[in-house]
Amino acid sequence: MKMKANVFRGKNDIRVEEVERPRAGVGEAVIRVTLTTICGTDLHILRGEYPVKSGLVIGHEPVGVIEELGPGVTGYEVGERVLVGAITPCGQCRACLSGRHSQCGHGGGYEALGGWRFGNTINGAQAEYLLVPHAQANLAKIPDELTDEQVVLLADIASTGFSGAESGQIKIGDSVVVFAQGPIGLCATAGAKLSGAALIIGVDGDANRLAMARRMGADVVLDYREVDVVSEVLRLTGGGADVSIEALGTQATFESALRSLRPGGTLSSLGVYSGKLQLPYEAFAAGLGDHRIVTTLCPGGKERMRRLLEMVRSGRVDLTPLLTHFFSLDEIAEAYKLFGERREGVLKVAIMP
Ligand SMILES: NC(=O)c1ccc[n+]([C@@H]2O[C@H](COP(=O)([O-])OP(=O)(O)OC[C@H]3O[C@@H](n4cnc5c(N)ncnc54)[C@H](O)[C@@H]3O)[C@@H](O)[C@H]2O)c1
Ligand SMILES: [Zn+2]
Ligand SMILES: [Zn+2]
Repeated sequence: MKMKANVFRGKNDIRVEEVERPRAGVGEAVIRVTLTTICGTDLHILRGEYPVKSGLVIGHEPVGVIEELGPGVTGYEVGERVLVGAITPCGQCRACLSGRHSQCGHGGGYEALGGWRFGNTINGAQAEYLLVPHAQANLAKIPDELTDEQVVLLADIASTGFSGAESGQIKIGDSVVVFAQGPIGLCATAGAKLSGAALIIGVDGDANRLAMARRMGADVVLDYREVDVVSEVLRLTGGGADVSIEALGTQATFESALRSLRPGGTLSSLGVYSGKLQLPYEAFAAGLGDHRIVTTLCPGGKERMRRLLEMVRSGRVDLTPLLTHFFSLDEIAEAYKLFGERREGVLKVAIMP
């Protein structure tokens, strides 16, 4: 049996092709994908900046219906609606059982990025059907009252963005600055608000995204093209933010995030960097400023997804304003183009297989 899927063939070459439909083996499940989306990381893959093998189905943000359950997967029924996180921890290995689910190893040890499998090391979600590994640890049932559109962004960007706030250990009353207000940064802003920050400063250079930052919880927005962001943050916070979140992955924003901190503050980094990242000694008080620098890879697994689903169900967070455009799987090349060129105020595109 065949299915349609978005296949990576090489740099700037993705195609919707007929490929073999997956079957569930031991501990696995197959879901019929009802909604998915495109991540900034998929753009890196398309542009050849993050290597994956030719022939791989890409995408890592699935919502769907259980089609088939492999032997050993219990407590689920065919036909149930599920959300699966972008990162699929096994729940069994040394990393998982040490609480480092995102760095899940393939067997005994730890492996950086090991838990990121969909559209990276195994076939991904931009397809009609998806094979879910370690299904017992990764299928999160979606409450009936929630729509696919309400939950699809939980798989990656919300989990990642919120984790920026969580890893930063924001406390009630903290001042927080979030560098970049793309989908990840906007969710980090929402996460800072949920964490009880008293002052949230959102930084970007796109008027549309700065407006959305306010909607997601920013009290002040700064256009980095118009103001000296670091001195403005130092002024607004009376000497530096308690937490700065980096959500872009460049030297400039990393450095500004560090320079915006008060001594003892935390830089929580979410961006994916390339090349060399440098740390000017005076920006972290020559190593004596009691600064903390933490990084986080999108938390996954069914318990993480259950918690995020509850946040949507309880009305604490609404991510639907970020879903700005809708496409069918057949039109996905057009969706990549729009998303990649950031035209028409696009934030996230919904893809319906
Ligand atoms: N840690 C993780 O698990 C994880 C998961 C997914 C994505 N990411 C990474 O997060 C980063 C952000 O992803 P995204 O999809 O939100 O990105 P995006 O490209 O959609 O948005 C980036 C934003 O940065 C703004 N910008 C550009 N230069 C700026 C500057 N100097 N100061 C402030 N803002 C600036 C742009 O206007 C844009 O709005 C990427 O590096 C991505 O690879 C990390
Ligand atoms: Zn992603
Ligand atoms: Zn594991």
